[in-house]
Amino acid sequence: MTAYSLGSLLYEGKAKRVYATDQPEVVAVEYKDDATAFNALKKAQLAGKGELNCRISALLFEHLASRGVPTHYLGVGGERWMLCRPVRVIPVEVVIRNIAAGSLCKQMPIEPGTALEPPLLDLYYKDDAYGDPLLTEARLEHLGLVTPQQRRRLEDLARQVNRELLALFGSLGLQLVDFKIELGFTTTGELVVADEISPDTCRLWDRGVADAQDRILDKDRFRQDLGGVVEAYGEVLKRVQGACPEPRVYG
Ligand code: TMP
Ligand code: ASP
Repeated sequence: MTAYSLGSLLYEGKAKRVYATDQPEVVAVEYKDDATAFNALKKAQLAGKGELNCRISALLFEHLASRGVPTHYLGVGGERWMLCRPVRVIPVEVVIRNIAAGSLCKQMPIEPGTALEPPLLDLYYKDDAYGDPLLTEARLEHLGLVTPQQRRRLEDLARQVNRELLALFGSLGLQLVDFKIELGFTTTGELVVADEISPDTCRLWDRGVADAQDRILDKDRFRQDLGGVVEAYGEVLKRVQGACPEPRVYG
């Protein structure tokens, strides 16, 4: 039984499509098998990735909600479908880094693997045409994307997400190196975590594996041509399922 019917395509991103439904307060998000990196310079189809990311995101959103973090998530639909509240996404990517990796080490004299305490919070302007550049406080203010008060709330929420995910993944033998989240406003003006939280948007290392490449269980496997991308995502789902029950089915 489906509790909704699909309406028109509202938005298509690199990894997901968002559709209207017959319910004004519900959108349907389809997770695609498309993988992209380096602002879509590198592309592939990875069979099964959409379903894995949908499941992982659903379980993580449910976990966050249970810990008091507001999200857009309502429940899962079919294998690659998630039902969410419609959200006006703020075009700011919030990245929290617990361990130095990725772009940070390319742009700064910071050794990969350095522990970052307190965790580093970076804001990027979400716009592929500009290559998602790092935002300064002055640029953020100039663009008027958020008020200072909204910015504080956004950063507080991101840090709360980090604390909750660090604890959860830590208990599953996974090291949360860094992650990106997007936030937005619901139709009632509530600031919520939106988009997805998955191995596409987090760096996750297997604590039980010493080898610097073998331990990678996230999209870096794709970015660095390490192979075994879907298998790594499957391992992340298996671990998360160890802590969180099956995702709730919407409707
Ligand atoms: P970075 O080291 O490339 O800046 O990435 C930091 C984190 O953000 C990493 O966990 C991957 C994630 N991320 C995205 O989810 N989308 C993106 O477009 C980029 C560049 C990074
Ligand atoms: N998400 C970005 C892209 O699709 C960059 C990345 O994740 O590496 O190109």
